[in-house]
Amino acid sequence: MRRFGLIGRPLGHSFSQAWFMEKFRREGLTDHRYDPYELADIAELPQLLARTPDLCGLNVTLPYKQRVIPFLVQVDPLAAAVGAVNTIAFTPQGLVGHNTDVHGFRTLLAPVLSGLQEKGSDIRPRALVLGSGGASRAVAYVLREAGIRFRVVSRSRERGDLTWDQVDPTVIGVCKLIVNTTPLGMHPDTEAAPPLPYAALTPKHVLIDLVYNPERTLFLQQGERQGARTIGGLGMLHAQAEEAWRIWNGAQRP
Ligand SMILES: NC(=O)c1ccc[n+]([C@@H]2O[C@H](COP(=O)([O-])OP(=O)(O)OC[C@H]3O[C@@H](n4cnc5c(N)ncnc54)[C@H](OP(=O)(O)O)[C@@H]3O)[C@@H](O)[C@H]2O)c1
Repeated sequence: MRRFGLIGRPLGHSFSQAWFMEKFRREGLTDHRYDPYELADIAELPQLLARTPDLCGLNVTLPYKQRVIPFLVQVDPLAAAVGAVNTIAFTPQGLVGHNTDVHGFRTLLAPVLSGLQEKGSDIRPRALVLGSGGASRAVAYVLREAGIRFRVVSRSRERGDLTWDQVDPTVIGVCKLIVNTTPLGMHPDTEAAPPLPYAALTPKHVLIDLVYNPERTLFLQQGERQGARTIGGLGMLHAQAEEAWRIWNGAQRP
């Protein structure tokens, strides 16, 4: 049996198992399995590895994308630059960390990039990144690569550039791209949404939510009401999972 899986806590919201099991079924990989492994603490990882010797690859989700790094023998240059690991490859040398959220977020951002640049203006577009965790770091990496200036909104002054109470209609007016990387609105707390002055949004705004369960979060619904363009996290989930699969199979991306 070739076993793969996801470590994190909680995992009730995750679509990864269903996505991989469907992929294995479609591709006739009857000796492959993908399971959620909920760990109360990342210190439980060595025990999981010891009792599951046929594990061939792991995905990592919240809250362990940074905390998993000390358990790895190596982190590839992209994951090191991002500072977060969401995919672990099992190699003869030991566990190697990768980051496929970067590839996943690039696929969400690419179709909206040209629309963010005001016609005839050379002013670089600005963005707000909500949350400062593992996914936020991957988003920040891609925004820097795309030349988009951004500010991180955090509950803590130390972890972000702005705290939530500083995000007023003027800030929203300047930042035409808003990316939610917090779990606010994620199943089962679907009535939650990032606390923003939504009335300041316009049809020129683009809202991207990394949350994919539910597909249309309250954050996106509030943007839609103001005429903003909205994009959910499902496309990113699929792109980052395909990239993890390529890494696990030692394949190079075409
Ligand atoms: N679509 C995809 O493929 C994809 C990929 C990656 C992640 N995601 C989703 O993105 C979300 C974040 O994942 P992650 O791995 O980055 O998690 P994480 O490392 O735990 O980071 C989440 C960040 O959100 C902020 N936050 C958490 N709870 C909050 C609350 N109650 N109110 C306000 N801010 C809060 C925190 O930032 P501060 O402490 O700075 O406030 C925290 O660091 C999850 O919903 C995950 O499912 C989706």
